[in-house]
Amino acid sequence: MSTYDLVIIGTGPGGYVCAIRAAQLGLKTAVVEKREAHGGTCLNVGCIPSKALLHASHLYEEAAHHFGAFGIEVGTPKIDLQKMLAFKDEAIAGNTKGVEFLLKKNKIDAHRGTGRILAAGKVEVTADDGTKTTLETKSIVVATGSEVVSLPGITIDEKRIVSSTGALDLEQVPGHLVLIGGGVIGLELGSVWRRLGAKVTVIEYLDRILAGIDADTAKQFQRILAKQGMTFKLSSKVTAATATDAGVTLQVEPAKGGEAETIEADVVLVAVGRRPYTDGLGLEEVGVAKDEKGRVAIDAHYATNVPGIYAIGDVTTGPMLAHKAEDEGVALAEMLAGKGGHVNYGVIPNVVYTYPEVAAVGATEEDLKAQGIAYNVGKFPFTANGRAKANLMTDGFVKILADAKTDRVLGAHIVGPEAGNLIHEIAVAMEFGASSEDVARTCHAHPTLAEAVKEAALAVEKRALHM
Ligand code: NAI
Repeated sequence: MSTYDLVIIGTGPGGYVCAIRAAQLGLKTAVVEKREAHGGTCLNVGCIPSKALLHASHLYEEAAHHFGAFGIEVGTPKIDLQKMLAFKDEAIAGNTKGVEFLLKKNKIDAHRGTGRILAAGKVEVTADDGTKTTLETKSIVVATGSEVVSLPGITIDEKRIVSSTGALDLEQVPGHLVLIGGGVIGLELGSVWRRLGAKVTVIEYLDRILAGIDADTAKQFQRILAKQGMTFKLSSKVTAATATDAGVTLQVEPAKGGEAETIEADVVLVAVGRRPYTDGLGLEEVGVAKDEKGRVAIDAHYATNVPGIYAIGDVTTGPMLAHKAEDEGVALAEMLAGKGGHVNYGVIPNVVYTYPEVAAVGATEEDLKAQGIAYNVGKFPFTANGRAKANLMTDGFVKILADAKTDRVLGAHIVGPEAGNLIHEIAVAMEFGASSEDVARTCHAHPTLAEAVKEAALAVEKRALHM
């Protein structure tokens, strides 16, 4: 029997980062992982492979449709889908091996197998061959992440009706891809296959896409996606999906009920959200409480109701984002080592990695209205940014929301090129409690896309220079 300070179940971004930080702080740490490779959903079937395909498909679209505008003639580029998928698999392998290396480097014991909590301080690991080992530990962290949700009556077969996992490995470009859910997974993976040649239809229950993102920003983004060729059926629900050898037949109704229509698809991607994954962990047996949404219930220190058992990441409350899980992992490791860990939940960036990207941090206009906070808006379009104009990437804008009384930056919303990188300037500004004037007075290099952020900050006081 091995004895540890800390045993973490799950090596996704939450779990493996928690392990590294704990080891750095001198805690004897082990991880338990049942997947072949470390890195969880994010590295194996989520963030990393989807970004690899987004990158490759973007280059294809650029070569196929946009190079001519820059005076580059390449003829008609051809897709070698098998090679593109192999490139994506290499991206996964490179990253998961990186995690393995980091665990070794930090002298973290990695136990391969399924973890089950027998009691506080005891984790049983069952290897693939059935061998059982029991680990003794002062603390246990549940970092088991989340799994895809389906809809009643719709069976995901990962061939015709796929989740985000199957959508990373389609054997051919579908003629017609229907997305159920206009959230981040649907729009990212829908973009990949649209660029590669699929007709893409988005069926979304709500009257808008990207629920939770600033409404004005989401609206602009939808316009851009429509211009790229995506079709949207909002306020609609799928009531049945039947897979055949030839494709999938969908029954679609208005969300409020009404006459159904039939839509034929070659492939359907179900992307209506994820739920916490706790199967077989033994949480019920040891009495770990869950909240009304089935998430592991925790206090401000990530502690469950059972002393010595903690939870971080998708399995518990908050946005299901890799970087949120990572930061929780670091904060918890620091607390367990007797330090003061902390995550500022008011400043967690959120990025949709399409082209253009959508990025957000802090409050939306809807949040501020709901809270009755008076605010000023500074908005600046990329059409007025010199670098964006020169590079023919002018779709979108930067919007900064600042407190009407104090000018403190309360949120920022960007749709546009490099939005996912640009948003971090505002995240840092918000961490330091900056005003929009602080951002506006910071010298920004010319010519950069970041100048659009400065101009949006200037626009808060209606003094943008280039519009
Ligand atoms: P989501 O919650 O982002 O979007 C799901 C969408 O499906 C919502 O707009 C919802 O209104 C709609 N919907 C729900 N039921 C429906 C129905 N019956 N018919 C039609 N539409 C319906 O969930 P998604 O896209 O599956 O992503 C899951 C999680 O993964 C999210 O929490 C997300 O944060 C995370 N993720 C983050 C990424 C990023 O940060 N770039 C990338 C991919 C996933």
